[in-house]
Amino acid sequence: MKPPVVLSRGKNSFLVENFEGKLHTHHGVIDLTELRNKSFGDTIRTHLGVEYRIVPFNPSEFFKHFRRGATPLMPKDIGAIITYTGLSPDSLIFDAGTGSGMLAAYLAYFNKFGEVITVEKREEFAKIARKNFKLAGLKNVHQIIGDALTVADGFKKEFDLVVLDMKDDIAFVPKAKQILKLGGYLAVYNPYIEAARSVYEVMGKNEFRELEAFEILRVDLDIKRVGTRTSTGVWHTGYIVIGRKY
Ligand SMILES: C[S@@+](CC[C@H](N)C(=O)[O-])C[C@H]1O[C@@H](n2cnc3c(N)ncnc32)[C@H](O)[C@@H]1O
Repeated sequence: MKPPVVLSRGKNSFLVENFEGKLHTHHGVIDLTELRNKSFGDTIRTHLGVEYRIVPFNPSEFFKHFRRGATPLMPKDIGAIITYTGLSPDSLIFDAGTGSGMLAAYLAYFNKFGEVITVEKREEFAKIARKNFKLAGLKNVHQIIGDALTVADGFKKEFDLVVLDMKDDIAFVPKAKQILKLGGYLAVYNPYIEAARSVYEVMGKNEFRELEAFEILRVDLDIKRVGTRTSTGVWHTGYIVIGRKY
């Protein structure tokens, strides 16, 4: 068993990146060197005798365990982008801005035989994302630090998918048209409805087809002994606009 691994107990889980040092939990301290002689499925005890189960680090946990820089996209929105654009595992993808690298990491993971070019203008965010890509063991993500608007000029009509989660998305729409292959998709994420509407209109003017704008709502259930009801959590994240070039 090699790091990274996850130590899990009920709703608590800790990502362990090295089998050295001590981990302080609210159930006591775990000596991480003990992990060297353990296997997945074993348990490890804190100094108070509380057990944590050792499980592999799985892509389902990127969202829980990635380091955060800029606000990451949530898995429900990433899932929608992947399915509604029909991402195939040998795609070439342009992702602007990288932020924490959440979207880029999932796109790279499901695009095993393809590549993701991800562009971020702020070096400190790119650095955080780089650590996340390393943690996830992803080798098919290529990071560029710079303004996506300028970087795009260096590419030809070669991308299957362009995804935008950045401020200057409207200015980027004509550039997306230029770098997309025929049949390729542009997906744009926005936290505000007015911005999503403007993107929709600009994509229309740029002759993107099959345009759709939507929001994905995930409604969690609170399951308790007394009964089950819709959780009072916040559901809104943002709006997605998708269009196709042909
Ligand atoms: C909301 S975050 C993206 C989060 C990312 N999609 C994720 O899932 O982790 C937006 C990022 O876009 C970057 N950004 C804004 N304008 C940009 C530009 N013109 N070129 C490159 N990056 C840009 C910001 O610095 C920020 O890190």
